[in-house]
Amino acid sequence: MMFRLYQVWSHFDVSYRYVQMHPVPAKAVILLHTMCGIVGYIGSKNATPFLIEGLRALEYRGYDSAGIYVAGKGAIKRAGKVSNLAESIPAGFAGPSGIAHTRWATHGAPTEKNAHPHSDDTGTVWLVHNGIIENYAEIRTRLQDTGIIFQSETDTEVLAQLIGWYYAENIPLEEAVSEALKEVRGAYGIAVASTREPEKLIAARLGSPLMIGIGDEGYYIASDATPVLSHTRQVIYLSDGEMAVLTPEAYSIMTLMRDPLDKEVETLEWDLEAAQKKGYEHFMLKEIMEAPEVLENTLRGRLDIENNAIHLGGLREVEDALRNAKRIIITGCGSAYYAGLVGELLIEELAGIPVEVEIASELRYRRFTTTPEDTILIAVSQSGETADTLEAIREAKKHGMLTLGIVNAVGSTIARETDAGVYNHAGPEIGVASTKAFLSQMTVFALVALLLRELHTERSDAHSSAEIIRQLTRMPEYARRILENTDSIAAIAARHVDMRDALYIGRKFQYPIAYEGALKLKEISYVHAEAYGAGEMKHGPIALIDSSFPTVALMPRDSLYEKTRSNIEEIRARGGKIITITTGDTADAELLTEDVIIVPDTHEALMPILTTIPLQLFAYYVALARNLPIDMPRNLAKSVTVE
Ligand code: AGP
Repeated sequence: MMFRLYQVWSHFDVSYRYVQMHPVPAKAVILLHTMCGIVGYIGSKNATPFLIEGLRALEYRGYDSAGIYVAGKGAIKRAGKVSNLAESIPAGFAGPSGIAHTRWATHGAPTEKNAHPHSDDTGTVWLVHNGIIENYAEIRTRLQDTGIIFQSETDTEVLAQLIGWYYAENIPLEEAVSEALKEVRGAYGIAVASTREPEKLIAARLGSPLMIGIGDEGYYIASDATPVLSHTRQVIYLSDGEMAVLTPEAYSIMTLMRDPLDKEVETLEWDLEAAQKKGYEHFMLKEIMEAPEVLENTLRGRLDIENNAIHLGGLREVEDALRNAKRIIITGCGSAYYAGLVGELLIEELAGIPVEVEIASELRYRRFTTTPEDTILIAVSQSGETADTLEAIREAKKHGMLTLGIVNAVGSTIARETDAGVYNHAGPEIGVASTKAFLSQMTVFALVALLLRELHTERSDAHSSAEIIRQLTRMPEYARRILENTDSIAAIAARHVDMRDALYIGRKFQYPIAYEGALKLKEISYVHAEAYGAGEMKHGPIALIDSSFPTVALMPRDSLYEKTRSNIEEIRARGGKIITITTGDTADAELLTEDVIIVPDTHEALMPILTTIPLQLFAYYVALARNLPIDMPRNLAKSVTVE
């Protein structure tokens, strides 16, 4: 049963899979950039040690299975960690060339069968792949009609079989790869080996990064710099539509049409750690800066702009239950819980369904009083392994409730134990403080709320979703604009670096973001931070205010701006310093507050996605100024798998 449920997730959740069943103009199909890792080596040394160490260097990218192919020895693949794979390699599994791969499953269970490398049905061509072959289904059907038998459900195997099909014509491997790639639509970074030409490796790229390392003892292929840094700093970055042919003695770069290219050899400056962080000082900053890409990944294939509709493949099988839902309970811990508070407002505002939100560590002990048939639980979890959230799900299931997950880690326990759900596609989040995943969680809630609106109101209402859908498509650009101002936010943080306490206030859609902002400051800069609904100031918190207790006020120029403005005046009258996150004309805010951070204006219901970003940066820069271990704050773990 559990497998079937997971199968529902894996079968439907990939939005591009939806595109397969409902072809949209190619221009509209943008790709999910998987986070898989590729390494390859050919030269005078034994390839195996480099390949395994190279996979270990890529572990930071996140993955759930791994595999290796070595010339003359064949392939070994394992689900789970690289250490699982390394322990499976027998003595003597050595050769002068090979390829290897770590897979971050975006579809298809993270099993040995789905792990890379994949081969053609003769076992001649071996391939590892990062990306997505969009037209894999039609190619697969055509090859099956020629009698080819497929071993896995993956699009990658289709590419391996297609290359093998051409290779059977006894042409050079690079020619077979070139002919096959001419047929492919999608994104790929691939490394290819063959038993017929063990003295050759092919690398090719379209939309998924790949580089060639030029060493004294051979040549390397890698998804990024981290596996090659300890062997060479001379690299060639392949550009889209380019292919490399490597032998132990030489390399050549060419177009897919096999026209020779003269590419510049570049020198890597980064050390290993910097390469994993793409040059940022901390994973947290890298992940904050990834916001535009993460919002694009979260939205990909899920917005049907033409019809003002939402496509969430992972919920398709439970749409009847969603249509009949009379109550929704949202649960999670920490930032996931605060995302749930935003989700509550979104669902109530857009779909008119009553929602209750409860922290998982409390929900799991409460008595469920709702009728399970028309109540749905939505559990939010980046890691998919948080113990309290998992226990709350289990309690809800005992009560007969349908349980949905909003999860980032594919194949995680919560993804497998909930009945259906939506993956974030935010990529691995390494920093302990949640940043990009939190933005993605709120974005998924906007999609879920719009889907519920569709299911709970006549389609004639579709037009009223149009503006929100249009604004969602603009969120990545809005995030980019905010991230252009990191210096000014760093300067504000520097002015408050010695604060002992801070107060965060907001109303309605900004109320949960006050709590999230306070949590970010607490967990990475260790500053005591309180969060309150702005309307609560007179009921106690204003007693805290003096010149040493700054307030962060979340006040976009929305329907509640004036009310929060009056709070600011009260704080100012008591000597409190204020940092304002606002939109539009700042003249008014500048009258009242020392520091003003502007974010682009969008629909009130989507503003939390934008007002959060400056708070993440503010907390980051305060912690940086305090020289604290930002990625690994004291006492905290990335995933709280114990109660
Ligand atoms: C957020 O910055 C914290 N790291 C923490 O509150 C986290 O959100 C919480 O532990 C829930 O984790 P999950 O999303 O993996 O379930």
